[in-house]
Amino acid sequence: NPDLDSEALLALALPELAQKLQSGKLSPEAALFTYVGKAWEVNKGTNCVTSFLADCETQLRQAPRQGLLYGVPVSLKECFSYKGQNSTLGLSLHEGAPAEVDSVVVQVLKLQGAVPFVHTNVPQSMFSYDCSNPLFGQTMNPWKSSKSPGGSSGGEGALIGSGGSPLGLGTDIGGSIRFPSAFCGVCGLKPTGNRLSKSGLKGCIHGQLAVQLSVGPIARDVESLALCLRALLCEDMFRLDPTVPPLPFREEVYASSKPLRVGYYETDNYTRPSPAMKRALLETKQRLEAAGHTLVPFLPSNVPYALETLAAGGLFSDGGHSFLQNFKGDFVDPCLGDLILILKLPSWLKGLLAFLLKPLFPRLAAFLSSMRPRSARKLWKLQHKIEEYRHSVIAEWRALKLDVLLTPMLGPALDLNAPGRATGAISYTVLYNCLDFPAGVVPVTTVTREDEAQMEHYRGYFGDIWDKVLQKALKNSVGLPVAVQCVALPWQEELCLRFMREVERLMTPEKQPS
Ligand SMILES: *[C@@H]1O[C@H](CO)[C@@H](O)[C@H](O)[C@H]1NC(C)=O
Ligand SMILES: *[C@@H]1O[C@H](CO)[C@@H](O)[C@H](O)[C@H]1NC(C)=O
Repeated sequence: NPDLDSEALLALALPELAQKLQSGKLSPEAALFTYVGKAWEVNKGTNCVTSFLADCETQLRQAPRQGLLYGVPVSLKECFSYKGQNSTLGLSLHEGAPAEVDSVVVQVLKLQGAVPFVHTNVPQSMFSYDCSNPLFGQTMNPWKSSKSPGGSSGGEGALIGSGGSPLGLGTDIGGSIRFPSAFCGVCGLKPTGNRLSKSGLKGCIHGQLAVQLSVGPIARDVESLALCLRALLCEDMFRLDPTVPPLPFREEVYASSKPLRVGYYETDNYTRPSPAMKRALLETKQRLEAAGHTLVPFLPSNVPYALETLAAGGLFSDGGHSFLQNFKGDFVDPCLGDLILILKLPSWLKGLLAFLLKPLFPRLAAFLSSMRPRSARKLWKLQHKIEEYRHSVIAEWRALKLDVLLTPMLGPALDLNAPGRATGAISYTVLYNCLDFPAGVVPVTTVTREDEAQMEHYRGYFGDIWDKVLQKALKNSVGLPVAVQCVALPWQEELCLRFMREVERLMTPEKQPS
């Protein structure tokens, strides 16, 4: 269409785009073909798309006009089953097994008029916050190609961060929505585990319930995330997946502007914040205070215990046995670091190594020890401890009468292949999977020359391999985006988004890569 101003279309914020489509000022064809063109173009530099969903033109014709996302092109992380498409997770084992039906959230998106158009890349098995696999290769950060886009929803981060999609769906079990959003300078929300349907997701382990996986949106701004939740939290989703609580989007909570009581911490004393992370947190705190909110220091108790014993123990309760089945006879992507080698060690050797490493490298010892297989009795004990921990943090939160919590978010983006060797740095995100609290990220600043100069003196708290890799991988980042994390109590997605919108309004960063 020669009359179409594609630059103007691509620049529209999602709520405006949806409104123009609904009012008929813009055709769904124009929106789809413009975004397909843009995705094609940005894919050349980032390798973020794994496949084009060829039947999107059918949906284009069928999309219900009254849907909240009528005609909106949407990208999907590769793990969302889509009829006729492979969801491989970068594993040869899952090649050539096309899905028979769409996952529930994809069905709901379609019923709301959205047009899913691409699947995007993930790290092999998705157990990483990097984004590379032997089938589709490495995805690069759109701001700087030597940097990781984050993961595991890394293809989404890279595509949305470079303007190739207005909205995407990701999943998060340790930070997989929040890392790519933060590393690529966009917004992302990890809801409470069961707020959005997980039915029809491809995964590589099943039955691990101690640490909850979440489905959530990624987009350029907070209003777009809210629109996506509003669209998904509808009768169709509650009907298609009755295991999801039938809680519609609470507009009054999202729309409120009453001052908030905000807990915050500058560091979790586990992963030392980079200079830019620390500045991002402090500047956000100051602006919130100046805008009339009350800021109260608060760090949940026992963070190392939550990470090393509860989260690592929950994720690898069977010693990694089910996980390893996926890799039989396959190449292992370098982005996974030594994970496969370590999981393959016999239990007694993990125990012995943990004992030997403990005096010098306590974190590595603790993770290794948690990665030993355990009996059902021990697993029940662990799950009970997670429940107790969750309630103890809620009690601390209540005692301070907090509404929400502001925390640092790991950033800027690490070098390619570094995340697999800096596992401890998931501390800021995985804590909220372990607690199963909703948590989202908002970009608030970019790395300055001064931040970069201060990196010369940056040292981790532990001086182990994870800290050393992180120290190196955070460098050479001037101009890259840095986010903060916003957290709320379980099922308070609307309050979490409302807080994120406030942070976004006060901080207004540059969001597009130059
Ligand atoms: C699914 O994978 C098989 C085997 O690799 C391939 O032949 C087929 O084209 C793929 N399907 C799609 C829709 O990409
Ligand atoms: C982190 O550790 C230091 C030194 O042990 C302590 O003074 C500080 O209060 C801790 N920070 C938080 C937020 O708990």
